[in-house]
This record gives sequence, C-alpha cells and structure tokens, in this order.
Amino acid sequence: MSAERVQDKMNQHTRLDGSPIPFIDVAGQRRRLGSAIDDAVARVLTHCQFIQGPEVRALEADLAAFCGAKHVIGCSSGTDALLLVLMAWQVGPGDAVICPAFTFCATAEVVALLGATPVMADVEADTFNLDPASFERAIATAKQRGLKPKAVIPVDLFGLPADYDAIAAIAAAHGIKVLDDAAQAFGATYRGRKLGTLSDATATSFFPAKPLGCYGDGGAVFTDDDALAARVKSLRVHGENAGDKYDALHIGITGRLDSIQAAVLIEKLKIFPDEIVARQAVAARYAEGLAGVATTPRTGNESTSVWAQYTIRLEPGRRDALGAALKAQGIPTAIYYAKPLHRQAAYRAYPVAEGGMPVSDRLAEEVISLPMHAYLEPPVQDRIIEAVRRALAG
Ligand SMILES: Cc1ncc(COP(=O)(O)O)c(C=O)c1O
Repeated sequence: MSAERVQDKMNQHTRLDGSPIPFIDVAGQRRRLGSAIDDAVARVLTHCQFIQGPEVRALEADLAAFCGAKHVIGCSSGTDALLLVLMAWQVGPGDAVICPAFTFCATAEVVALLGATPVMADVEADTFNLDPASFERAIATAKQRGLKPKAVIPVDLFGLPADYDAIAAIAAAHGIKVLDDAAQAFGATYRGRKLGTLSDATATSFFPAKPLGCYGDGGAVFTDDDALAARVKSLRVHGENAGDKYDALHIGITGRLDSIQAAVLIEKLKIFPDEIVARQAVAARYAEGLAGVATTPRTGNESTSVWAQYTIRLEPGRRDALGAALKAQGIPTAIYYAKPLHRQAAYRAYPVAEGGMPVSDRLAEEVISLPMHAYLEPPVQDRIIEAVRRALAG
C-alpha cells in the first residue's frame, strides 16, 4: 500500500459522513509519532538485548523524572505490578486486602492469587472511586472475620485519582499499607502531586488502551521505599539474589518488561504531557456539550484526570437504547463495568463491607463510556455529542 493510501486509511475516521468512529484512536497517535517508534524498535532489533535491555533502564529513569518517584520498576503487566508489590509485602493466607467493588477484576485477583482475602468496599458515585467510609467499614468486616487487614488497593478509576489524603489517614490509623492501582490513571495529579508518589507503592499498566500504552503488555511499580524496590526487582526475576538469577532468594515470577515495549514507551512518554492536555480538552467539551442530558463525571480542582474513559451516567434502563442508537450511527460505546466484583462468579464468596455495595450496584446499571482519546477532533466529537443529545431527547 502506498504511503498516501496508508495515511488516507488512518484518516478515515475524521470524515463526518457517518463513517465509524474509533473508541480509542491508536492510529492517530502513530500518525503523530511518525517513524520515531519504528526507529526505536529497529534499534532493539539491532542490539538484540530483548530482555532487560538498555531501554528498560532508560524508561525507568524517564518515568521517575516524569512523576517524581524515587524508584520505578518496569514489569510485564499492570496485574504483575500489583502482584509483585503484594508479594514483596508478603501478603498471604489470613491477610485481608481492601479493594473497591467497582473496578476491573485484576485489582482483587492478585490478592486472591496469593491466598489472601479481598474484602470489597463501596465507591463514591461522583468519582467512581473508593469511599473512605466504606473502606473503614471493610477493615472492621475483615477483623470480625478473623482476618488481618494488611493493605488497601484504591483504584484511580477512569483516570481520576482516589482521595489519597482520606485513605492514607485511615490506613495509617490501622497500620495498613496503601497500594495505588493507577492502571488507568498514570499521569494524573492529586493536590498537585503526580500519581506514583502518593502511596507506599503504585502500580500502573501500559496495556495499549491505557492513556500511556505500549504495543503489547507492560506495567510498572513506583515507590520511594528502597527496601520495597529492591525486593520487587528481585521478585520480577524469579526472586534472584542481587542479579544472579541462578541463586534464588525468594519465590518470584517472570515479571519483566521487555526492551521493545520500553523502546515504544520512551517515545510515547515524550508526547504524553501534550496528550494529557488534549484528553482534558476533549473531556471539557463533553462536559459542556452533554450538560443537562446526562450526569457527566465530576471535575474537581483537587485532582486532574487523564481520562482513560469518559463515562456518563443515565437513569437506569436508558443506556441500552443510547448504545444502540449510537452504534447505528457508527459511534461505539462501552460499559465499564456492568457487574461489580461482588456480583462476579469468581469473587462472589469474598466478604463485602458492612452496609453492602449499593453505589457500585447502582453505577453498574447507570454507566456508559463514550469514545475518548487525545486525537478526537472537535467536528467528530460534535457528531458524538449531537447523537447522544438526540438519542436522549427521543
Ligand atoms: C483498574 C485496573 N487494574 C489493573 C489492570 C491490569 O492491567 P494489565 O492489563 O496491564 O495487567 C487494569 C487493566 O485493565 C485495570 O483497569
């Protein structure tokens, strides 16, 4: 295919004639990056250090400079980043780890994998994030069940940081650690500080659909704790003893980030600050365009979101019709999440905080996410806004 035809194919989403709009536009970003990623990948193909090559160390340094964390440890996925921290804290049977019920299953999966008990807490309707009051009740629930509350995993859902000051105060009062699941929110800020520096440890994901995504699986752990960083580095290579993988100090995993993914991320990180600004502009246009027809996400001045998703809320029973009407016009939508964790077969048996999960249950019936990415041009976004307004008026 000629260069013009490739370009034309990539550009087709910008047409306003009713042609399909992508939910996330990876091609738009590739257009902007030009040959930078191809060149970076080619360099790895030339030096052949595919595992733990120089790009991994360079990326870790770039990420540390970006967010201000003392240590950054690249990992094989966001799930492994969470797992490695819990392994380093020796979380296991008899321990409870508090998780919000309204999240992707990986948040609680890592707890269960280690034989510990995820205890679900409810979320706040306007931020979709962990409700500190329910978190406190979950600690009590864990203790009543004879479990030792060891950690909490607040999730920065859809790109917005959880309420870290409130969560840290409760965690400190009960002597439990805070592991920030920033899989959807790396790049966001809370009271002027970037995620990666707000908790005992932070985990993020570089899954391609994330605000900062690679071209495969990847993730990272962030911490200021020297001992934790050293242990996570060992655990990601089978628990190796000071760089000698044939002398295992701990039971670990294969949890490394590979050099090609690191090379991709180094290039993407260069344009990430710009992309965050662009995402915020898209979110602001949605908020303005949809005011009065749907409940748009809260935007406070305490935090900034990186808008992994733009998720609106409708009266229960209305979203299926909206999704169908938009689909007929080539506009994709997604439901994150139709079933909170405590409703899923794998997690149903785990304890929930006293008072139940009424907000998670309600959100599961109300939420619908619209196309969101840094390359959503105003005329295309207007088409989406108009279509939503028309469908909800009808
Ligand atoms: C909240 C949350 N936690 C953890 C993960 C896991 O990340 P990964 O897919 O990189 O393992 C995801 C990814 O979708 C997520 O959204």
